[in-house]
Amino acid sequence: MEIRSLIARRSVRRFEATPVPQSTVTRIVDQARWTGSARNRQPWRFVAVYDRDIRSQLSRLGAYAGHLEAAPVALVLLSPESQQLDTEFDLGRVAQSVTLVAAEQGLGSCITSLYPDSNSRIAAELVSADSGWTARHAIALGFPAPKPTAGRSAIPLGRLSVGESLRFL
Ligand SMILES: Cc1cc2nc3c(=O)[nH]c(=O)nc-3n(C[C@H](O)[C@H](O)[C@H](O)COP(=O)(O)O)c2cc1C
Repeated sequence: MEIRSLIARRSVRRFEATPVPQSTVTRIVDQARWTGSARNRQPWRFVAVYDRDIRSQLSRLGAYAGHLEAAPVALVLLSPESQQLDTEFDLGRVAQSVTLVAAEQGLGSCITSLYPDSNSRIAAELVSADSGWTARHAIALGFPAPKPTAGRSAIPLGRLSVGESLRFL
């Protein structure tokens, strides 16, 4: 897939029931772990949640996390609770890597917020995170279901134009 299509692929929130093998999730993390991070801290750990009951509980920990319940896998991203300034930047980079490798494997994905902090802490407990680690995001993974033909997105689609987002001095 060309890089532009990979970057511009849409989030997927509806999935086929087809299971995602653990070997595929392992391959995704094995590639994503090479993402660079500030001072090479790699302030991330992953928990691949296949357990439906845990996914169901996670799905109630974000305002827009409902799709985690039916997704075949919720890949929970753990990060240190006492964050460096660049931790969220690093997590964004590794999350993007996960979604790109997932797309290469034919999987759809949706980065999902588990906010506020109290919810992130509950999510970390749910996945038995080590103490000092929190769970601000999970990535829903699965084979994409056909898109619904009707219905409009609650969020505006499209992107800022180059003219709106770039200046030269
Ligand atoms: C940091 C971050 C948090 C997000 N949180 C959610 C979320 O909680 N629920 C959700 O459905 N989508 C979430 N998304 C997906 C965005 O809504 C989506 O990427 C954006 O609307 C653009 O749509 P597209 O990815 O389909 O092009 C999140 C994306 C990012 C990068």
